[in-house]
Amino acid sequence: MIHHQFVPQKLSDKKIKGTTTWEAPSNIALVKYWGKKEPQIPMNTSLSFTLSQSRTITTLSYIPKKGEVADFEVWLDNELKEDFKPKIKKFLSRVDDYLPFLGDYDLKIETTNTFPHSSGIASSASGMAALSLCLMQMELELNPEMDDAFFRHKASFLARLGSGSACRSLDGGIVVWGEHPSIPGSSDLCGVGYPLEIDDVFNGYKDAILIVEEGQKQVSSTLGHSLMDNHPFAEQRFSQANANIDQLIPILEIGDLEAFVNLVESEALSLHAMMMTSDPNYLLMKPNTLAIINKIWEFRRLSGIMICFTLDAGANVHLLYPASYAKHVTSFIERELLKYCQNKKFIQDEVGIGPRQL
Ligand code: DP6
Repeated sequence: MIHHQFVPQKLSDKKIKGTTTWEAPSNIALVKYWGKKEPQIPMNTSLSFTLSQSRTITTLSYIPKKGEVADFEVWLDNELKEDFKPKIKKFLSRVDDYLPFLGDYDLKIETTNTFPHSSGIASSASGMAALSLCLMQMELELNPEMDDAFFRHKASFLARLGSGSACRSLDGGIVVWGEHPSIPGSSDLCGVGYPLEIDDVFNGYKDAILIVEEGQKQVSSTLGHSLMDNHPFAEQRFSQANANIDQLIPILEIGDLEAFVNLVESEALSLHAMMMTSDPNYLLMKPNTLAIINKIWEFRRLSGIMICFTLDAGANVHLLYPASYAKHVTSFIERELLKYCQNKKFIQDEVGIGPRQL
C-alpha cells in the first residue's frame, strides 16, 4: 500500500553530495504499542514520553553512486557493522517508494548512542528516527520548498517503517501514534505531538532507567508483535489500550498522579501479561525486575510520593516520577534499588524536547 502524500511530487534531478548529522532521542511508552499489521500499522493507539539523555547521533554521507547499484555502509562507534546491514537494507527498501532518489546514491551511515550498546536499552527507536531525519535532509536539498512541519511528519512516517515505536521519537514532550477519536490529528502513519492540555507536573518528568539486564533481548519485539496475531486476548488488549488513552486525557490535563500511576503500571503489566499468555509464551521480567517493582510499591505506600514503574519489552525498569521529588527519589534509588541493577547501573533520564540537527 503506497501512501501517496509522502511520495515526492517534485524533486530536482541534480546530483548532490554531502553530509548531514541528526540526533534523536529514545522514548518510553505509557500506553503500549503491542500488535501490528502490514505495513507497520499499529493495532491500537500508543502514547509516550520523549526522553532526553538516551539518544542516537547519526551522520549520513551521500555521493552519487559509483557502480551500477547503489551501495551503503553502516558504522557504529567507528566500527564497520556488517551485521547491521540486513535491517538497514530492509528499511531502505521499505522507504524506496517515498525517497525515489535514494537508488542513485552510495550512503555511509555512521552512528553512535549516548547510552552503552550493552545496556539493554533498545536503540531502534532513536536510531531509526535519527536516520530518517538524515534521509529527509537529503530530500530537502532536492526540494528546498518543503516546510518544516512536513519534514518532521515525513521523518516520523519513514521512521515508523523502520521500527514502529521510532515514529514517536520525532517530537518532544508527549507523542501519540495511532488514530484515536479523542486525539485530534492522530494518525496510524506517524507520531504527532500530543495536542491537548498537559499539567505542569509533567514538565521534565523523570525516568530513571534501572538496568536489570544488560545485553540483547532474548525475544525480539518484532516476534512479540507477531504473537498478538492469534492471541486469545488480543481484541481485549487493543480495546483496553484505546480506552486507556481516553482515561489518560483528563489525567494529563489535571495532573492526577494517583490515577496516572495506576494506569501506567497497569499498561506495563498488561504488556507483559500478553507475553506470558501468547503461544509460545515467554517471560522477560527477571527476579530483580519484580524486586524493584515491590520496592517501588513499598516506597509509594510509605512516603505517599507518586512514583511508578513502566517496562518495555525487557527486564529493565523505568521509574517515573515528578521532577520536584528528584532528590528524595535519587536517594531511594541509591539506597534500595541499585543493588538489583546489573553492575549497579542506571540511567537518569527525563522528558525532553525531541530531535535536533547538529
Ligand atoms: C514494548 O517498535 O520495537 O516498546 O515495530 O517491530 O520495530 P517494531 O517494534 P518496536 O516495539 C516496541 C514495543 C514496546 C512498546 C512501545 O514502545 O510502545
